[in-house]
Amino acid sequence: MRLFVALIPPAHVLDEIAAAFAPYRDWPHLRWTGRDTWHVTLAFYGEVDEPTAARLRPRLERAAARHPRRELAFAGAGAFPRARSARTLWTGIQTDLQRLADSCRAAGRREGIDTGRALRFHPHLTVARTRAPRDLRAVVEGLAAYEGMPWTAGEIHLVQSHLGGEVRYETLCRWPLRDATASR
Ligand code: 2AM
Repeated sequence: MRLFVALIPPAHVLDEIAAAFAPYRDWPHLRWTGRDTWHVTLAFYGEVDEPTAARLRPRLERAAARHPRRELAFAGAGAFPRARSARTLWTGIQTDLQRLADSCRAAGRREGIDTGRALRFHPHLTVARTRAPRDLRAVVEGLAAYEGMPWTAGEIHLVQSHLGGEVRYETLCRWPLRDATASR
């Protein structure tokens, strides 16, 4: 099964992102991702067998418990690998999620999964892709001032992606982040 760990923003935040990007819905060559698939990937595991997936679960539960719930906000837009020759269009998150992502990646590494350690982690939510590299500088610049409302990331999701035809994501399990205000 193909797995990744993600944050899933609440519906009202997704509504707001949809509204912010709406003026670009008809932009040439953009293929919009389904709103019901929107998420922020923390760690990508790729193809994982069932026993490994079972062992990952308690590791992820412990990882989640080590990191506090936190307030996040989406802001602006960006493109990978670069705006003038883009394959994906996204909105970003300024808040530092590096340590949470590192813990989720480490959970995978301990199970022998290559989680792309060398890649710098850049939290984002992909809203559109292109079949071939396209110049999206005008879109990225047009959305530079976008500032989303803050929302609280309170849990991580272990998600299975079902490929073939329309991509579908299924949350297999979710674990709460640490409630920093609760007595320990
Ligand atoms: P993307 O949105 O930037 O394309 C499910 O496919 C999620 O895992 C997506 O958020 C995707 O990121 C991410 N993903 C897919 N393949 C990946 C890879 N090889 N390394 C890191 N993340 C990947």
